[in-house]
Amino acid sequence: MHLLKSFLPSTLLSAAVSATLQVVPGGTWTATNTGHHVQAHGGGVLKVGDTYYWVGEDKTNGSAFQNINCYSSTNLVEWKYEGALLSQTSSGDLGPNRVVERPKVIYNKSTKQYVLWMHIDSSNYGDAKVGVATGSSVCGKYNYKGSFRPLNFESRDMGLFVDDDEKGYLLTEDRKNGLRINLLSDDYLTVKSSTYLWKDSIEAPALLKKNGVYFMFGSKLTGWDPNDNVYSTATKLSGPWSAWKGFADSGSKTYKSQTNFVLPFGDSAIYMGDRWVSSNLMRSTYVWLPLSISGTTASMKNAVNWIPNISAGSTSSGPTENSYEGETAQLSGGAKSIACSSCSGKNAAGYIGGSNAGAVYFANVSGSVAARTTIRIKYMNGDKSERFADVSVNGGSAQRVAFLPGSGGEPDSSVLNVDLKAGENTVRVGMQEGWGPDVDRLMVPIS
Ligand SMILES: *[C@@H]1O[C@H](CO)[C@@H](O)[C@H](O)[C@H]1NC(C)=O
Ligand SMILES: *[C@@H]1O[C@H](CO)[C@@H](O)[C@H](O)[C@H]1NC(C)=O
Ligand SMILES: *[C@@H]1O[C@H](CO)[C@@H](O)[C@H](O)[C@H]1NC(C)=O
Ligand SMILES: *[C@@H]1O[C@H](CO)[C@@H](O)[C@H](O)[C@H]1NC(C)=O
Repeated sequence: MHLLKSFLPSTLLSAAVSATLQVVPGGTWTATNTGHHVQAHGGGVLKVGDTYYWVGEDKTNGSAFQNINCYSSTNLVEWKYEGALLSQTSSGDLGPNRVVERPKVIYNKSTKQYVLWMHIDSSNYGDAKVGVATGSSVCGKYNYKGSFRPLNFESRDMGLFVDDDEKGYLLTEDRKNGLRINLLSDDYLTVKSSTYLWKDSIEAPALLKKNGVYFMFGSKLTGWDPNDNVYSTATKLSGPWSAWKGFADSGSKTYKSQTNFVLPFGDSAIYMGDRWVSSNLMRSTYVWLPLSISGTTASMKNAVNWIPNISAGSTSSGPTENSYEGETAQLSGGAKSIACSSCSGKNAAGYIGGSNAGAVYFANVSGSVAARTTIRIKYMNGDKSERFADVSVNGGSAQRVAFLPGSGGEPDSSVLNVDLKAGENTVRVGMQEGWGPDVDRLMVPIS
């Protein structure tokens, strides 16, 4: 892996390095330092300097509050776990069997505080409050300050927005009355007044401003199940706001996701949604896609993969891929071809791991350029918890990759980011502890 660095001048390397790192919506995204799928559901992303921080809910053990986690990345693809902003306490708002959802962080330059807002609730969603906490570093420990009903109204799904004039706003779903925008106090710690109320039933709010136009995104109320999410536009936060309309393909249910955040990115923005799996919340995935914004119109197409260009603030469509079948690769240590009706070629490489340390070895994986590249392993996992494999490229040190439980019959994708050489590469997928996934095939970018 380190050979690459010594051969390339550093300028060339930095250009090549991010060339084909891709976002793969709906895949298993293994954090670089935990070996587990990223647990940051219902979250939000903020950029501090050159680093993106992703704050969201830990659903490792189901719906009740465990942690509000923080991950960091400089490329929006490789995420490192930094720690928890808040963790379960023995009692109170953050105690056992509590609901803490949709955490969002904004920064106040004058007080030099990161301010975290979140939905605080009882397990039957009867409390319907917001909670506030502050921290002096973005991914450090936060000090929980308490909860309340904003302007005495119920509040469930929520978001935050900071305008160009640095005024802060709480976006809050008030089930009895509708969706609200409330002005925050200057220190961002309390709610000052009501700015706008939609009488429509919309939750999961996220607000974006582009070229003087405000876009409010949200979903209809269908519980954990997805629906065709909608948006409304205005030139003032106090309205008038347009009628709600769809932005993803009609009937696609927003590509099976629910809005959680919209990240401004260059001339446009990135939609960040959750694909909730209510029966096993830890295996919920992230559907991130480029939004097209033009005037007062927002639209979004689905993609298997796409490329964020961080320095240019642009996105491009993902590469086409070569595929390599697991069952026809070199199988060792007990691994063998097994029948798999929904897999490509109707077979997969099974018995990876186990007491014989089964492994599958792809001897000739073609790399089109020397670059750090996102590849996908299409796999099956019939368990209710993650499986794992250690993947080694060109004989280098192995990286632990997680494989979420199957989403229902079809092979799923787990993504990993590796340094490929131009020409022939080898990829070994093995496991020493327990069973790995059944490997349907390896998907490797062509350019
Ligand atoms: C990002 O975009 C810039 C400007 O268009 C381009 O020069 C650069 O090569 C791109 N980087 C990658 C990694 O594609
Ligand atoms: C999940 O539950 C297990 C078993 O009780 C515990 O060891 C682990 O710390 C929990 N994880 C989280 C994130 O709460
Ligand atoms: C931060 O808080 C102070 C009040 O302490 C306020 O004056 C200021 O405008 C706030 N916002 C920002 C972006 O600094
Ligand atoms: C690897 O694949 C390439 C392209 O298919 C082929 O030209 C080459 O001979 C193969 N090398 C080996 C060692 O199989």
